[in-house]
Amino acid sequence: MSITLNSPLDMHLHLRDEAMLKTVAPLSSETFSGAIIMPNLVPPVTTKEQLIGYKERIGSAIGDDVFTPYMTLFFKPTYTKEFLESIKDELTAIKLYPAGITTNSEGGVSGFDVEELRPTLEAMSELEIPLCIHGETNGFVMDREAEFVSIYEKLAAAFPKLTIIMEHITTKASVEALDRFENLHATITLHHLLITLDDVAGGMLQPHLFCKPIAKRPEDREALRKVALEAHPKVMFGSDSAPHPQHAKEACGCAAGVFTSPIALQVLAELFEEHSTIENLQAFVSDNAKNIYKNITIPEKTITLEKKSFVVPEKYGNVVPMYAGETLAYSIV
Ligand code: DOR
Ligand code: ZN
Repeated sequence: MSITLNSPLDMHLHLRDEAMLKTVAPLSSETFSGAIIMPNLVPPVTTKEQLIGYKERIGSAIGDDVFTPYMTLFFKPTYTKEFLESIKDELTAIKLYPAGITTNSEGGVSGFDVEELRPTLEAMSELEIPLCIHGETNGFVMDREAEFVSIYEKLAAAFPKLTIIMEHITTKASVEALDRFENLHATITLHHLLITLDDVAGGMLQPHLFCKPIAKRPEDREALRKVALEAHPKVMFGSDSAPHPQHAKEACGCAAGVFTSPIALQVLAELFEEHSTIENLQAFVSDNAKNIYKNITIPEKTITLEKKSFVVPEKYGNVVPMYAGETLAYSIV
């Protein structure tokens, strides 16, 4: 049993910088054709110089691999149309974080006043630059994403031509919002298709499964699985693979993020096969993204997965991957 994928894409990826970038970037570039690169560095990517410099460092880290880093800026309501026009050729999307909601998001948006955001969002809409959003309020942790749905809807209604991506959705409430607005889309991670809060905190605490948004209830995972496994045209794969050094995860004050890049395609193949939907994997990991992001060019790459066991390494550098030490059913040829 084997499956061949054409140009798999990871539409939400954290590559970090410096030594970590050198460790993790090749683990994506060897199997994916391209990825949307998150801008939450310290300091965040907010200028053309920073964006181009970061793209070049990613280029050095991946060597000769065929892989396009689709670059993003960290959203600021002060970006003007003139600025966005000047950077448009280098930029694929802009990522909006609510202030303080997750790793390195302190400079994000507080309050979601449409009028305050209007100039930048209107310019993005006119220039056809998609808006990626980390959709969580600062309410009770299990309710943050569901509470944010009304903000997604407010933005989707106010900017009907703006492509909005609800990033790493984890709830039934977000899945249901997808069909209410033509311009709402979503990424879904590997880990949110696999785990619930029980896997994180139901037994002994599992720091390597701790992430934002936190994994939710079984019925939420069911709703995510349904749209992912049928490759609903408004959803696409975005790993949100978010590496942190082992000491930052196995600590009092565990950093949020699950590291999945090196296992993502193998585990997706197993999940889709188990549910007899393997024919939909191509759309979920590539074709849907191409239709949602009209501004990307995708390099040709063919990846074959075969049903042959793969033992996940305990560590990649100083990062512990999801399923470390466990045996997966599929490996990459
Ligand atoms: O778990 C997460 N980790 N969620 C995010 O939104 C950010 C990410 C990170 O950068 O570590
Ligand atoms: Zn992320």
